[in-house]
Amino acid sequence: MTLDILVLRNTFERAKVENGGTTELGLRFYKRLFEKYPSVKPLFHTPPEEQHKKLMASLGAIVAGVEQPERLLPYLHAMGIRHLKYQTETPHYSAVGENLLAVLAEHLSKEGEWTIAMAETWEAAIELVAKTMVEASENPGAFKEELAKFGYEPDGFKKNDVTPWLQQESANTP
Ligand code: HEM
Repeated sequence: MTLDILVLRNTFERAKVENGGTTELGLRFYKRLFEKYPSVKPLFHTPPEEQHKKLMASLGAIVAGVEQPERLLPYLHAMGIRHLKYQTETPHYSAVGENLLAVLAEHLSKEGEWTIAMAETWEAAIELVAKTMVEASENPGAFKEELAKFGYEPDGFKKNDVTPWLQQESANTP
């Protein structure tokens, strides 16, 4: 498992500008997800035209925060716990992970290179994100204090805030 932070950053920067940027990447993500894993489609109520912006913003926050685990981990724990409300189950994470890796490879191959190092980095990053979210979703009670410290409710949402996926930047770092 090789997670190269520079490779992660560079590829995400490329994803933003190549092949129609994150709009194209995000829309393709949901199109392929629903084609390949139709059973998860009913979980989504927000149209892909809106939903993809949240996912892309969240990926941006994760990539930006990868060197600050003290902030990134609570962000991911809260997100994992929020996903319980969305009826997400642990096995869904491998489907979503496979899909993200596949669409990234497709996206970045259009105008440039998608190398083995890039694939390994993204695979490792996705695995880490999924593991961290699942860990919290499987035992939310254990993360109550941490969540509170960063301004989240026990269900992973923030009071009076409808954009919790943007919160990493403004977390109340102790
Ligand atoms: C790689 C890990 C994942 C990331 C980064 C991610 C990111 C997000 C973000 C940013 C949102 C917006 C709402 C919020 O932040 O609470 C969201 C909502 C959602 N996610 Fe995920 N997610 C992941 C994994 C999954 C998995 C495995 C599923 C299962 C199919 C899933 C299903 C959903 C659903 C159903 C919603 C609500 C959609 C709606 O409002 O209709 N997510 N996700």
